[in-house]
Amino acid sequence: MKILGIETSCDETAIALIETRGEGAPTECKILASLIHSQADLHSKFGGVYPTLAKREHGKNLIPILEKALLKSSLPILRELTDKEYEERARDFQKDIAPQNPELYEAFMNAPFLKSVPNIDRIAVTEGPGLEPALWVGITLAGMLAKLWNIPVLPVNHMEGHVLGSLIDSNIQKGEWQKLKALPLPSLAFLISGGHTEFVSIEKIGSYKIIGQTKDDAVGEAFDKAARLLGLPYPGGPELSKMAEEAESAGLKSLVRLPRPMSNSGDLNFSFSGIKTAVLYALRDLEKEHGQVTIEMKKGLALEFETAVTETLSAKLRMALEQTGSASLVIGGGVSANQRLRKAFESIANEYGIELFLPTKHVSGDNALMIALSGALKPEPLSGSGLKARGTWKIDSK
Ligand code: KG4
Ligand code: ZN
Repeated sequence: MKILGIETSCDETAIALIETRGEGAPTECKILASLIHSQADLHSKFGGVYPTLAKREHGKNLIPILEKALLKSSLPILRELTDKEYEERARDFQKDIAPQNPELYEAFMNAPFLKSVPNIDRIAVTEGPGLEPALWVGITLAGMLAKLWNIPVLPVNHMEGHVLGSLIDSNIQKGEWQKLKALPLPSLAFLISGGHTEFVSIEKIGSYKIIGQTKDDAVGEAFDKAARLLGLPYPGGPELSKMAEEAESAGLKSLVRLPRPMSNSGDLNFSFSGIKTAVLYALRDLEKEHGQVTIEMKKGLALEFETAVTETLSAKLRMALEQTGSASLVIGGGVSANQRLRKAFESIANEYGIELFLPTKHVSGDNALMIALSGALKPEPLSGSGLKARGTWKIDSK
């Protein structure tokens, strides 16, 4: 089966093409193309993702990225649409699409390659969770392609994508078959991103239950906010992490201690808004006491922040593994790129003697490979029509 994946939930515009094979559920996968275009530089001056700008950029960039991905994939063309077929199928786009998505409409209508119908069996698109104006662009494109090429569309939950993305090795190059990693069940997923911090117990693929989550900020959001207070550009997570590493290798110590929020709350929930405020107060106190906050003080504070977050996540993770008796652990979401956290997860998985699934670099942030793979693994029937953006779609609700 050949699947086109489309992802536009936040500030990455991503397209992937994969091929799968296997009896029943796919067991092997070939990455044909997986392209990611980040808008982070554009949003950095706003200190966060600006939804209308994200929407406009997705609209401008999706079609050129799709063209590149199709070229890269070398997928055979099934046939060429005649001018008459093309006009008939695209007839309503001007009325239905152009007013809401002028950039996407214009790019679509100026893309002659779309008249060549590629050999694709289904389209998988992120319906949520995410920023609705951004989600709508990907969903709209999926609907347009479905109509033009007469291919079914399957909606995918972005967080399920982060779970399943950890089962594929994105380092295995285009054109090579790879076995999808088998997930020992029941499994525990720990999803840590800019919008989510949640524990998901997995009975089987497609059957999920959220058993713990943040009450306020997500862990990635806390990284980004703390980074901003330290004067770092958006997205600050990786920048803050770099500072922490520098502090560690220079032997710098933090002059303040930050809280380990909710470590003793007895449940699997998190709260990260307090730690951001603690960083704000720490910077104020340092300035009051020392006249200024030096770069060394900032580096020490970055290390203390990363340590506090790692200890908090680790304590809850141990608790979640004990409560669920999980046979494996899957980590997903952009924050999983953090090296200190990866090391902590590795040592916890060792401690419990369970298999750990960490995403490779390409799939740790937002990407369409994980969306295409989710579309391939979905046992549910194809929905086909009536797609809509679902900004707050939970992984455990239909
Ligand atoms: O999954 P993702 O790409 O987008 C969402 O769906 O939210 O996650 C983005 C988040 C951002 O908050 C970013 O700062 C954080 O992941 N992040 C990191 C690192 N790399 C990305 N946080 C800490 N350390 C990192 N190395
Ligand atoms: Zn994400």
